[in-house]
Amino acid sequence: MECAGSKIVDAHDRLHFKQRLFHGAGQSETPAERFSTERVMDFSIKTFDGKNALPTAKTGCIAIGVFEGKKLSASARSLDVKGAITAALNSGDISGKPGSTLLMRAVPGVASERILLVGLGKEDSTGARDFVSATQATARALSTIGSNDAVLALPFDRVKERDLEWAVNAAVLASREVAYRFDDLKSTQDTPQTGVKKLAFAVSETSLASAKLALAQAQAIANGIELTKNLGNLPGNICTPTYLANTAKKLARDFKLGVEVLDRKQIQALKMGSFLSVTNGTEEPPKFIVLKYNGGKAKEAPIVLVGKGITFDSGGISIKPSASMDEMKYDMCGAASVLGTFRAVAEMKLKINLVAVIPSCENMPSGRATKPGDVVTSMSGQTIEILNTDAEGRLILCDALTYAERFKPALVIDVATLTGAIITSLGHHNSGLFTRHDDAHDALAEEILAAGKETGDTVWRMPIEDAYQEQLKSNFADMANIGGPPGGSITAACFLERYTRKYTWAHIDIAGTAWKGGAAKGASGRPVPLLTRFLIKRAKQTA
Ligand code: BES
Ligand code: MN
Ligand code: ZN
Repeated sequence: MECAGSKIVDAHDRLHFKQRLFHGAGQSETPAERFSTERVMDFSIKTFDGKNALPTAKTGCIAIGVFEGKKLSASARSLDVKGAITAALNSGDISGKPGSTLLMRAVPGVASERILLVGLGKEDSTGARDFVSATQATARALSTIGSNDAVLALPFDRVKERDLEWAVNAAVLASREVAYRFDDLKSTQDTPQTGVKKLAFAVSETSLASAKLALAQAQAIANGIELTKNLGNLPGNICTPTYLANTAKKLARDFKLGVEVLDRKQIQALKMGSFLSVTNGTEEPPKFIVLKYNGGKAKEAPIVLVGKGITFDSGGISIKPSASMDEMKYDMCGAASVLGTFRAVAEMKLKINLVAVIPSCENMPSGRATKPGDVVTSMSGQTIEILNTDAEGRLILCDALTYAERFKPALVIDVATLTGAIITSLGHHNSGLFTRHDDAHDALAEEILAAGKETGDTVWRMPIEDAYQEQLKSNFADMANIGGPPGGSITAACFLERYTRKYTWAHIDIAGTAWKGGAAKGASGRPVPLLTRFLIKRAKQTA
């Protein structure tokens, strides 16, 4: 039994994108949803019971688990027909530690051209992290062999505190992560795709149905993550607010979503004085993007996802230092992760109602830019003294959060690369999670924390308290837009909190997690794994 992987190449878009790019047109009118996805992986689920057993499977490679202490997994035992695997373990060629691999060719008694031994740690105590590093190592090893297809016969149902669906999902995400490249802006590709492109997951007959569902969902999630990464990695001169709006429109076409893109005039009519103040200094037109997905019951209140869409944050008049300013092209990663999550949810056809609200603009200095000390009136009517034009994320989000009221939401989650201070607090491992502290919000926080743990896309809860709110006091307006250096990510959350009192709300500060620096510089796709997991579980609850 097979189920084919989805074709995700959009060659037409790619071509037009390249033509525009290399003929000097700085902006694309039609967004290329995908860039480097000629590196498509074709996944399927197969059973190797009875007549069609693993040793006789005709394939380029079978990946099987081995443990520390020279121990074999069940599928390793089934392929150890003439003792070659045992011999390899006994000779010390592989430690069995998570992440270790050993490629064997022409193994006696086995039809497959190769066998890849994959270390899973201590026997029968493979933890989630161990399994993830094993699948990453497997994907890397399979990406360099001279074969087009392979079978993954890892013990998907034996990961501690995780089920088979989780393991299939982890293996798909690891494979897609390893295959991901973003080199379409280079005139020649870095490295052409090599190795395995067709990957079959070996599961038992009884697990077939759940494995197939998990595979379909994992591919949808991987597609969402890739969309988020592509948008994040695109430079500010291509990924403008208009580009994000066109991406939303294309998603709406492809997945039959509702879409509305408000331009400056419409944003003015809504009296979003705070959002508009951020866009004063730039020639690039602002966009206010609304997407709607109705997979749930008609009367069911929607979940609203709000994403910060600053396509470049220079800081404005409170200009940032030059070093690393290029990284502020990632300041739309909140918006990108909301779009990526939408793509995944729509492809999974989850039974929920979802709304995306994305305020998007550039933050630039100019003769018309907002100045420190300026006072603006937000859509909520509350006035804001802008003491620092670089604290712009909260200024665009507060109006989006007010706008979200009209959907009578079940809950609202905003996602934003909001503060450098969250990186000081939590580094690059956890995103910051903020909610009010009452029973309803504690429950929501627990749900989000759990979704983070289940996906490895973790969050850490931070406080919102009146003592911090006091730091936002202004002598000239209802509030200032900064609260001084102490607790910078908390005062930013406190600012947003003032615009969310009509519904249940959570804020996720992804400034430390949305992209990676150093040699692996690029967007991470976080927190799409977290958000999709949260929504999958919500959909099950309400079904
Ligand atoms: N986009 C930045 C936050 C940011 C900083 C994200 C570093 C990723 C890495 C945000 O708009 C910003 O500039 N925040 C200021 C707020 C300050 C002026 C109160 C910050 O964090 O320095
Ligand atoms: Mn800023
Ligand atoms: Zn910013």
